[in-house]
Amino acid sequence: MIFQNVLEPAAIVIFGASGDLTKRKLLPALYRMVKDGNMPEKFAIIGVARTASTKEEYQALTRTALEASSEVGTIDEAAWLRFSSALDYQTTEFGSQEQFQALRDKLEGAGFHNWLFYCSVPPSVFPVIAEQLAATGLNDEDAGYTRIIVEKPFGTSLETAKSLNTVLHAAFKESQIYRIDHFLGKETVQNILSLRFANTIFEPLWNRTYVDHVQITVAENLGLEGRGGFYEEAGVLRDMMQNHVMQLLTLIAMEPPVSSYKDGGFSLGANALRDEKVKVIQSLRPLTDPAAVSILGQYMAGSILDKNGVAQPVPGYLQEDKVAPESKTPTYFAIKIEVDNWRWAGVPFFVRSGKRLPVKNTEIAIVFKRPPLNMFPKQTSPNQLILHINPDEGVSLRFDAKVPGLDSSLRVVEMDFNYRDNGDLGPAAYERLILDALLGDASLFPREDEVVASWAWIQPLLDAALNPEPYVAGSWGPNRAGAFIGESSDRLPRVWRELPAS
Ligand code: BG6
Repeated sequence: MIFQNVLEPAAIVIFGASGDLTKRKLLPALYRMVKDGNMPEKFAIIGVARTASTKEEYQALTRTALEASSEVGTIDEAAWLRFSSALDYQTTEFGSQEQFQALRDKLEGAGFHNWLFYCSVPPSVFPVIAEQLAATGLNDEDAGYTRIIVEKPFGTSLETAKSLNTVLHAAFKESQIYRIDHFLGKETVQNILSLRFANTIFEPLWNRTYVDHVQITVAENLGLEGRGGFYEEAGVLRDMMQNHVMQLLTLIAMEPPVSSYKDGGFSLGANALRDEKVKVIQSLRPLTDPAAVSILGQYMAGSILDKNGVAQPVPGYLQEDKVAPESKTPTYFAIKIEVDNWRWAGVPFFVRSGKRLPVKNTEIAIVFKRPPLNMFPKQTSPNQLILHINPDEGVSLRFDAKVPGLDSSLRVVEMDFNYRDNGDLGPAAYERLILDALLGDASLFPREDEVVASWAWIQPLLDAALNPEPYVAGSWGPNRAGAFIGESSDRLPRVWRELPAS
């Protein structure tokens, strides 16, 4: 990808310039964009935060962040020079109109009329920033474009998400707002669309006639990573289900988006894609009895394998920093979701995610029905198409084949495609999404109605405040979770059956 020549000059302003996400993800992504030729010829990056700091100090902080980042590797000095000379910093109280005016003067003084604002701050600060941007005319598009990227979590409930939309809309049009969900920037997540709609062999099977059930698993071996304060409020449902897992589910379940014919080819508009995702969320069976279809968990002390495969003891959730001693915040969920539409009626989607599970593994398994007649003595397991999202990136297809020999026994064989084998690892998620925002392509950013619909669906589960069941860190979740999902041997949770146990 080299977009340098098609991008208009632009200034990127990061609110929350010294925050954790900025250091770990945004600055490395911006540096990589410069290095890979995906930044406009003329650009500026201005870090904005309350912490008093100078431009030189911010450049030094950025260099340290890049050196610590696993996404950067050896720093290319020529790219660093180009990147760092465009880096600036402005100490700003988010409530100060005067300082926002100074920001505007700085941008215009440097000849920038296209502005991309990145809000990498807690949701409670978004309204203050939006208000000051509007008060100083930093929301207008008179001389160029103005776009605002808003980090997740987008609200903490249906009500707060709606009021956040209202606040943002008071200052910006929907077309200026880019709500980020970094899962949508992952190559492998985008590949769901390519796999489904660029091929003829999968889509005919992608429905209730052939699919028995779908399993979406987002397992993490990490714990809180110092984010106890945030996590206590969020819990796994707000941190993972409402956004990342919901996005995976919509891409798997959606209908092909309408594409329009233009200039001799078909093109896909941002709204066409998002329309279909919204329809999926609207088809989800309401969670009228959350306890009947979901189970929550919270990890206790246990152990997790380190990089060398050695078990390391880890504390339980309640012993983590900034966690209340009797906290009921869930760190694990498993939910059985019914998608009530013509394509999926009767096909359950089992979704689950948790912290402190044995391994990091995000994958989607499409598990097919068995053939109508069993002609072979020992049929093994149902066919499965597995989309590996992270850390493995690829697709594998499992099916039965004859064991060579005189009898007719079968065994499972696997056809594998792995991005890594092809040597083509794409841009990191944030790099892709920031580039899309510069290009004005909102396809991979959830729209207002999408966010509201997903909060509306999950709200009854949040309101039910189910007690989380304990599980040992390093296990696959609460004991009941396996049986909860496994109604028959074909519906055993894939991770329990095939991935390494604790
Ligand atoms: C973030 C969550 O949005 O996604 C984290 O806040 C989680 O809790 C992370 O660990 C997972 O993302 P990835 O890209 O590492 O799979």
